[in-house]
Amino acid sequence: MQIREALQQAKQILKAAAIDTASLDANLLLSHVTSLSKVMLIAHDEDELSKEQEDKFFSLINKRKTGYPIAYILGYKEFFGLRLKVTEDTLIPRPDTETLVEKALAFNPQGKVLDLGTGTGAIILALKSELKSSIDAYAVDLSKKALEVASFNSQKLNLPVTFIQSNWFSKLGDLKFSMIVSNPPYIQKDDIHLTQTSLPFEPIQALTSEEDGLLDIKLICKEAKKHLENGAPLLIEHGFNQGEKVRAIFTEQGYKNVATIKDLGGNDRVTFGSF
Ligand SMILES: C[S@@+](CC[C@H](N)C(=O)[O-])C[C@H]1O[C@@H](n2cnc3c(N)ncnc32)[C@H](O)[C@@H]1O
Repeated sequence: MQIREALQQAKQILKAAAIDTASLDANLLLSHVTSLSKVMLIAHDEDELSKEQEDKFFSLINKRKTGYPIAYILGYKEFFGLRLKVTEDTLIPRPDTETLVEKALAFNPQGKVLDLGTGTGAIILALKSELKSSIDAYAVDLSKKALEVASFNSQKLNLPVTFIQSNWFSKLGDLKFSMIVSNPPYIQKDDIHLTQTSLPFEPIQALTSEEDGLLDIKLICKEAKKHLENGAPLLIEHGFNQGEKVRAIFTEQGYKNVATIKDLGGNDRVTFGSF
């Protein structure tokens, strides 16, 4: 089968399955299978695929057709200009989280910076790549497997981070930080979105939290106070409809200058305050 024909068939299969990135995904997956860039695929669109390439390509297309995330098939996701390894043990970093990184950079932190629930390491690696030796980067996750992925990304990108397996602050002793950032689980357990898009394929412990999705945010806000240097900020990502409640949690815990910023889609996304 020719490259052009394979791409056409694949796009039809994905469109019929209501995958709204059908064309992009078909190209990405064929590049993945053939090791040819998108430009090369166009330039060589009459070349024949080997039987092995064709079988591999359509098996991946059929996997994608089920909604299985493209990032898990490719094994990576771009975040803040960094190519990060992702696996089924990690949340796939989202563009919305870049809002958190940008706000954190605006505080221009120096010294120890902590990322809670690091997953692939997305947030802390983005901060380390921008702030270099101005910060000492720390990151925790409860998941050993996620930390293995984060550690791989840290080494591959040559961005040193101290990784600690910990239930939020439990293994951090009396360490204090000049900034704490987190994108914790914040989806309500009965949220209908959990059955949609890529969410059914991502680790549930990375997604949901008790008490309307707010329990982990409450725990972090409370415990972070013992680990923030004087006047240092805490920044937390949350759901589009949680801004008011998260501001109330920050304020009840005594944080000052509490505010929420919106993501690129215009939704409340990150709340911060200083202690
Ligand atoms: C929403 S994901 C965020 C991943 C990554 N920071 C990102 O933005 O792509 C939440 C992360 O918190 C971790 N996590 C959940 N409960 C935790 C806990 N009690 N202590 C530490 N990490 C936890 C999960 O394993 C997951 O990696």
